[in-house]
Order: sequence, then C-alpha cells, then structure tokens
Amino acid sequence: MELISGFSKLSKEEKIKWIAEQLGQSSDELLDQFSSFWHNDPHQQKVFDEFSENTLTNYYMPFGVVPNVILNGETFAVPMTIEESSVVAAASKAAKFWQSRGGFHSEIISTKKIGQVHFLWKGDYNKMYCVFDQAREQMLKDTADITKNMRQRGGGILDIEFLDMRHLDDNYYQIKATFDTCDSMGANFINSCLEQFAKTLQNWVASKEMFTDEERDATIIMCILSNYTPECLVKTWVECPIEELGGADGLIDGLDAKTFAFKFHKAIEIAKNDIYRATTHNKGIFNGIDAVVLATGNDFRAVEACGHTYASRSRQYRSLSDCSIENGIFKFWLEMPIAVGTVGGLTSLHPLSKRSLEMLGNPSAPKLMQIISTLGLAQNFGAIKSLTTTGIQKGHMKMHLLNILRTFEATEKEVKQAVEYFKNNTVSFNAVREFLATVRTHV
Ligand code: MEV
Repeated sequence: MELISGFSKLSKEEKIKWIAEQLGQSSDELLDQFSSFWHNDPHQQKVFDEFSENTLTNYYMPFGVVPNVILNGETFAVPMTIEESSVVAAASKAAKFWQSRGGFHSEIISTKKIGQVHFLWKGDYNKMYCVFDQAREQMLKDTADITKNMRQRGGGILDIEFLDMRHLDDNYYQIKATFDTCDSMGANFINSCLEQFAKTLQNWVASKEMFTDEERDATIIMCILSNYTPECLVKTWVECPIEELGGADGLIDGLDAKTFAFKFHKAIEIAKNDIYRATTHNKGIFNGIDAVVLATGNDFRAVEACGHTYASRSRQYRSLSDCSIENGIFKFWLEMPIAVGTVGGLTSLHPLSKRSLEMLGNPSAPKLMQIISTLGLAQNFGAIKSLTTTGIQKGHMKMHLLNILRTFEATEKEVKQAVEYFKNNTVSFNAVREFLATVRTHV
C-alpha cells in the first residue's frame, strides 16, 4: 500500500477506487462487492457511515436470539450479535436447562462510575487536603450546568476526592470522582465534568493566598473516565439441589449428578488458580457478555477491559465465576462489573440496538447489567458442562461442519447427507473432504 494524504476527504467511491488500485484489482468489482452490503435506504446508510470514519461498507455479523431466559422470574428472549457458531446454541441450551430449575437470579450490588483528573502539583498534600472541601464545592458549582439533567434523573456527581499519588511519581496527584450516570453509560458526561474540574482546580489554586507561588500552579496531565468500575457490580447465580442437576434418569450428559457437580466444581477451582485456564474460562464468559453488549449498542471493549482487570484484582488473573457445593446445594455464580447504558450513544441510533432493547422490554441500565451477566453465566455453564462431560468438540464440530461444507461449496442435498452422516462420525476437515468425495463419485 502507498501512503496517501487527504484520504478522508475522498468520496466513498473514490476511496474504494484507491483501495482497488492498491490491490491491483478492478475497482468496479470492489465497488460491486462493497455496495452490495450498503443499506438500500441511503438515509439509513448515512447513519451507519457516520458511526465511524472512512467507511466503505457495512460488515455483517449474525444477529441471533436466545429464548427461554428466565431471570428473576421474568422471561426474556435475549438478542446476541456474534460470529462464533456454537455460542447462541450453548446459551440457549443452558437457558433451557435452568428454566426448570428456578431460572437465573441476579442482583445489582452497586452502580458507581469513576473518573480521574491526573495532575502535577509542587505542593504539600496535607496543605491541599485541609482546604480541598472548598475546591470540591467550587467544582460542584462550576459543573452545575453540566450535571443539571443528570441530577433531575436522580444521578450526578457522588464524590470528589483528592488523592496523593506521589508513591508513583514526583508531584503526582489525582482528583478521583465518583458518578451515578443513571441509564446512560455516561462517558461524555463524566469526561465533561472532569475537564471542568481541571479548569476549576487550576483557577482555585491560582487564587489561594495560602499557597506559595509554586503551589499556585497545577499542571493538568489529563482528564478521563476510568473503564475500571469495580463499584458498578452485578451478581448473577443459579442454584439447585445436586440431585436435580440430573434428568429423569438421574444423569446429566451421561454423568450422575453428584459426579457432574464434583467435576464442575473442580473445573472452576482450576480456573481460579491457573491463569492459562482462567483466560479461556473468562473468554467463554465474554462470548455471552460481548454478544449482548454488542447487540444493545454498548461498548464491548470497555466491558472486556474492566472485566479482565476485575479478574486480576487479587493480583492474579482468576476465573470471574465461582461455584460452591454446600449442604447438597449446587450454586454457580458470576460477580463482575458491567458498565453499560440503555440511553445515549449508539443505543437508539443503531436500528438493531434500538430493536434489541425493545426486545428486552426497554430495560434500565441496571436491568441490562443483569441480563448481560446472565448470558455470561449461561455461556460459562454451557462450556463447563460440555468440557466436563462430552468434551467441547462434539458440539463445536457439529456446528463447524456447516462452515467446512461451505468451504467445499456443498449443495443443499450434500449438506443434508453430511449432517446425517456426521451424527455418528467424528467431524474433521479431512473427514468432510473424504465424505464429499465419496458422495460426489457416486452421483
Ligand atoms: C470457546 O469460544 C469458549 C470455550 O473455550 C470456553 C471454555 O473453555 O470455558 C469453550
């Protein structure tokens, strides 16, 4: 690829032409392919284009649904946007499994968000600390316009603290603020408040006679929300007597209920202690979480970053979920921070996130936290259940079979034959190739 200046100023067609030239391909062909994914309503396409920059086309992802999710006694059909074939199937199976065992339970522990002003100040912590109440008052006053609507909705700034961070760097201090952003994710709200706090701080130190000349100057390094929100926390769980884990024959995927519970519990212990397993374990949880976060127009990078930090809060990366077997009761839970919104951002701009929220009954942000964590737990339950019983590949390869068949351009008839054949045979790329070769030579 060559370097180019002014790319963003080109029209969409010109951008595609430039890419085609760089690839040595026909620009008509590339334009045909890209435009085949454009929305047929140009107004709607403009909305998609404006979500990002230098947009050429839309990247399609499957939008599916997990029905039968019983959460706190209410039934949901939960939308999921994900490209991995077995995720929706596994979550649906887990939802169905718990449907007859009391469903999922969830509670919100707290909903606070955090923002920081990082600054350098050549002064004494105690001197500032003693008078910081005045600065806090001024910050609240100076942000009154920004916070007015949020306060009317019951949220706003909860606390503003002055922190000594000199153990990390010379002259380094922080303003750490806590917010309640109600049903919005609140990034813009928090960042606007923080930038005002920084201005107020600078004016305030400059005007304080008790400070020396040097102390009258604060160097603001940056103002930004933290995506680590350990106090925006939700806990979701399932529980039942061990014997109820089995079906009518007392078995769960071929294992008796007690052995299953034992192996399941051990699997969680391993994920709590071994970082290699913990990473894959939590990846499975995020299979469920990200898919709902994405379907509802929320920021999955923020939710992931926060979840992984939370998983490391003991200074070792561990499983986000936990399990207990006490007094004959099997309990499996997920406690983690999930900062999302149901108003603002993409939530009402993207037609499918708007529809997703509607499918969920237009929940409040805390309720959405509960729904999202439920899908994380369901996904994790499904994965651990498969891993400790039949193994993961049986289900995975069945789902993957269709992808392999597509690679070989199998006809509808061949797909049907293959699905039948591989009910009792192990799926692999070679096995599918050989099966198709046999079928095709007998035509
Ligand atoms: C695959 O996407 C996710 C799993 O690997 C999760 C797990 O191992 O727990 C199945």
